[in-house]
Amino acid sequence: MPLFPALRCPTVQLSNGLEIPILGLGTSHHGGYSHDAIVYALTECGIRHLDTAKRYGCEEKLGKAIKESGLQQSELWLSNKLWPGDYGYKAAQKACLDSCTAMGVEYFDLYLMHWPESLKPGCSNREIRAETWKALEDLYKKGICRAIGVSNFLVHHLEQLKEDCSVVPHVNQVEYHPFQQPKHLMEYCRKNGIVFEGYSPLAKGQVLNDPVVQQIAKKHGRTTAQICLRWSIQNGVVTIPKSIKKNRIQENCQVFGFQLDEKDMVALGNLHDGRHVSWDPTNVD
Ligand SMILES: NC(=O)c1ccc[n+]([C@@H]2O[C@H](COP(=O)([O-])OP(=O)(O)OC[C@H]3O[C@@H](n4cnc5c(N)ncnc54)[C@H](OP(=O)(O)O)[C@@H]3O)[C@@H](O)[C@H]2O)c1
Repeated sequence: MPLFPALRCPTVQLSNGLEIPILGLGTSHHGGYSHDAIVYALTECGIRHLDTAKRYGCEEKLGKAIKESGLQQSELWLSNKLWPGDYGYKAAQKACLDSCTAMGVEYFDLYLMHWPESLKPGCSNREIRAETWKALEDLYKKGICRAIGVSNFLVHHLEQLKEDCSVVPHVNQVEYHPFQQPKHLMEYCRKNGIVFEGYSPLAKGQVLNDPVVQQIAKKHGRTTAQICLRWSIQNGVVTIPKSIKKNRIQENCQVFGFQLDEKDMVALGNLHDGRHVSWDPTNVD
């Protein structure tokens, strides 16, 4: 894998040739926001990939932190997401441009439809997804989004999109940690050239006290968080842990100097119990 500068973070290639850093920093609204932690992640830890969403309510703040870091946009990978309240062709285009303005940027490296369900009455989810996706395709063609994707989409949502639209999503961002391993979906994404990105990689902290993870952490002289992140990375999954604490952000970046062995990977692979710590799109038609 090629190396992304700064953290010497490996990248994963999208079907259009772009390289997404395999480790990024999450910024969701759960658990608060810290300006100093974001600036620290960028200037001291070498983080170059930030994941956000209009829904998280921190676009302006992130724009301020990026400015303070002194980094140019070209040195960063910025992912943002379109909330279902903004689905539909015109609304989606406007929301994307408004998000760019809020963050003080000209473009996003990756722009995702956040959730497969529409909040708009009178149209089927499938119709709204297709109409919205066409807006993203046009934003992609104009270069306002360098890559476009979806989040929380299951195989049936992706199959419908393939029938209705022309650009196959570059990325699908889905919940992924040792307790939640959607192997069938991952295999579908691999076969269709869709990069699989995992969110809530620490299961919002739930996985950190698991005895199997603790034992592997002890064996490698690492923390349980580092074991989970390393496991995602060794599975080729783009991972975006969130912390608002500087020492934890630093800790979460120290995941490239060691290797889990086959036994560790199997033991972690066996922890799947199907639980969701975020939301579950199973019943979205
Ligand atoms: N597309 C979607 O629908 C979707 C849904 C959920 C999340 N996401 C994205 O994925 C990102 C990460 O997911 P997440 O925030 O749900 O969960 P997560 O990254 O699995 O866990 C975050 C929690 O773990 C704690 N933590 C982080 N590093 C730690 C460490 N080294 N040791 C101990 N505790 C640690 C954090 O607390 P402190 O802050 O106190 O350190 C926070 O409470 C989000 O921020 C967001 O960008 C996307």
